Amino acid sequence: MQIIETPQQMQALSAEWRCSGQTVGFVPTMGALHEGHLSLVRAARSQCQKVVASVFVNPTQFGPQEDLDQYPRPFEHDCELLREEGCDAIFAPSVAAMYGAAALKHEPHAYESHTFVEVSKLGDVWEGVIRPGHLRGVATVVTKLFNIVRPQRAYFGEKDYQQLKVIECLVRDLNFDIEIVPLPTVREADGLALSSRNAYLAPAERAAATALYQALSQAAAMVQQGERDIAVLGAAMEKICDAQPLVKVQYITIVDAETLAPLDRLEDSPARVLIAAKVGETRLIDNIALSF
Ligand code: PAJ
Repeated sequence: MQIIETPQQMQALSAEWRCSGQTVGFVPTMGALHEGHLSLVRAARSQCQKVVASVFVNPTQFGPQEDLDQYPRPFEHDCELLREEGCDAIFAPSVAAMYGAAALKHEPHAYESHTFVEVSKLGDVWEGVIRPGHLRGVATVVTKLFNIVRPQRAYFGEKDYQQLKVIECLVRDLNFDIEIVPLPTVREADGLALSSRNAYLAPAERAAATALYQALSQAAAMVQQGERDIAVLGAAMEKICDAQPLVKVQYITIVDAETLAPLDRLEDSPARVLIAAKVGETRLIDNIALSF
């Protein structure tokens, strides 16, 4: 397994693979890998001849008050996990290699790059409201990574559902010749979605955090049993979260699964429930499909 630190080297390796007719699968990550990330790597491994994972804590997707400095960076362990999964290369650039030397001055917003990718509409709602600039940072770094790794397929988790929709949209709009492969959320036994940020949770917070998935699965179960009233579903989910004083809901919403616009009624088109909450100081997001 190769560990590659510069965009130039990564582009050269990928070009070599493509020229010899091999398909390249790509799994972008910010490291601190868990089974959710590894499920993406395994899917890529089973579908592509070469697999690249990137490990890059992308500063442009963090707000000034967010956890950029605190974000876990167990790079050696991540490399071991990726090696065990049969990954061919890790792309792990420095911030300077991605955004220019000015980024080294610890002024997170003083980068040399002047070009950003913004997905309007899908990027303006939900996470876009609470974390201004976050999805622009994601769309920008993913565009850069796509141009550096040049994969045929890229693997993303449904865990970050809005991010997935934003990336599908930018691939369509910017004509990237890349197939986006979505994969289901990997969860703990009690339903909590795996997340690198779960490590921040104190034991009482960890216990309270199960309310998010309980609320989502309650809504999914009620829909299965015939409930169609959005207000009734919303109230049931809020009740479950409100029973946990450590959980402060930021939004719970039932949206069209493609446009992410809030739904007035559940009808034929696929729907998704999105939830974001603070559990103590830690911000968690989750979502579930509603099938009816
Ligand atoms: P990160 O949070 O490290 O997640 C990397 C990928 O793993 C994303 O596609 C995410 O949806 C997926 N993932 C995370 N938890 C998961 C879970 N429990 N089950 C299944 N998949 C899961 O998302 C990012 O990094 C960044 O925004 C990135 C796309 C790398 C751009 O910087």
